[in-house]
Amino acid sequence: MRRPSSSAVLGHGLDVDTYWNRKSMMATLEQFIAANHDRYEKELTEWLRMASVSTDPAFKNEVARAANWLADRFRSLGFKTELIATVGHPIVYAESPTIPNVPTVLVYGHYDVQPPDPLNEWISPPFEPSIRDGKIYARGATDDKGQMITHLFGAEAWIETIGSLPVNLKFLIEGEEECGSKGLYEFLAGKYDTAEKTAQERISADIVVISDNSQYGPGQPAVTYGLRGIAYFELRLTGPKQDLHSGTYGGAVTNPANTLTRMLSSLIDDQGRIQVPGFYDDIVELSDTEREQYSNLNFDEKAFFSSVGVQQGSGEVGFTSLERRWARPTFDINGLWSGYQGDGAKTILPARAGAKFSFRLVAKQCPKKIQAALRSHLEKLCPPGIKMELIDMHGAPGSMVPLDSPYMTAAANAIEKGFGTDPVFIRAGGSIPVVNAFAERAGIDTLLLGWGQDDDNLHSPNEKFLLADFHRGIATSAHLWEEISKIKTK
Ligand code: BES
Ligand code: MN
Ligand code: MN
Repeated sequence: MRRPSSSAVLGHGLDVDTYWNRKSMMATLEQFIAANHDRYEKELTEWLRMASVSTDPAFKNEVARAANWLADRFRSLGFKTELIATVGHPIVYAESPTIPNVPTVLVYGHYDVQPPDPLNEWISPPFEPSIRDGKIYARGATDDKGQMITHLFGAEAWIETIGSLPVNLKFLIEGEEECGSKGLYEFLAGKYDTAEKTAQERISADIVVISDNSQYGPGQPAVTYGLRGIAYFELRLTGPKQDLHSGTYGGAVTNPANTLTRMLSSLIDDQGRIQVPGFYDDIVELSDTEREQYSNLNFDEKAFFSSVGVQQGSGEVGFTSLERRWARPTFDINGLWSGYQGDGAKTILPARAGAKFSFRLVAKQCPKKIQAALRSHLEKLCPPGIKMELIDMHGAPGSMVPLDSPYMTAAANAIEKGFGTDPVFIRAGGSIPVVNAFAERAGIDTLLLGWGQDDDNLHSPNEKFLLADFHRGIATSAHLWEEISKIKTK
């Protein structure tokens, strides 16, 4: 297209020079991104090779290596970069040179990954990235190393072509998201403030951007405006001092395994309703508009269930699968143990029984309140002869982001440019606890822009990331900075 002579011809409000400069600028960025396609994949491979498993001390050096690699990468962009040591793994914090009067964006992500076990179920080893069928397979491919790094490349494209970013960018990338974020919460509480800067100053921004979740489906990008929270527990029941003969003692000595099953089954009824008193008190109900929007997404139930190897599902009566996964609370037993597990039959009354279980929460439900209600509910059920211990492992409230903000519009425009399709607006069933912390501590909303897919096998064997989504994520990131730069800040 030749440069037009008047903006009337183009039918928009910008003067021709501004429009033309912007258009050619974005074309330059897109060319740079296309030309760097192979290098992005090479760097992604190098990045995924580092075994940054945060929960297992055996991987400590690899976690440190990943943190250093990332910090070096930000330094090479000319960002002021800090490796903030914490009680646990370091936080990588980096910021671009400050420009006045443009929005400031805080990108949050995590460079740590889940443990890769069970190893024998991986087709290629978890820390030897392997590309098959347009997908890169490795632990952390989608959660979150592969997604997070798209924003580094999105920023780099600006710096390498235009010379600077159109917004102020800050990156806060933690190394403990998969194991409780202890260091991050201490950082947010001010424990690692320096003479130069407080955490509050470091995180101060107009908007947070996170890419650590999924699109609606292949070829259908989304903006996510709601996440569920979580309340996670371990229940330990102790009965007799050792395993007993179930004939000699059974019937008179209370069996901890029997007690455990009773307690757990008391938590949910056959309608899928959680039975802890007061559990639903603070819940935010789905609006009619949301229910209609979700039903318009034409969710393919059959494909969804068959993708996980079942024919049908079940859940809270009166809600669809999407509503159950995105906007209703749940109860799930995560692990369960007691008694004899070997071959054959053994007649014992076990001395101990235990379980790990969690509730997914929706916005406004308070994990602490639920913990207290659960404790008193279980104590009432605890029979004579059983000692009960309920451990509150971790909890975080859910979150909802307002849809009517200029940042949402900016994100939708950027996605349209990067993916070639308008996004749908969805919620996700998983949890990113820090979203709430940003809103509560600093009053900052978050754009949840996931480039992954639900079936990317996060936390499972053969985790993967579609390379096409990786590249679209980079392009969208570059567009996002431009779209956000058009927003007037206060
Ligand atoms: N990236 C996930 C969260 C996620 C996944 C959100 C998919 C939306 C869609 C994150 O790394 C994660 O695993 N979160 C944990 C948090 C928990 C341990 C507090 C989760 O959701 O189980
Ligand atoms: Mn994640
Ligand atoms: Mn995760």
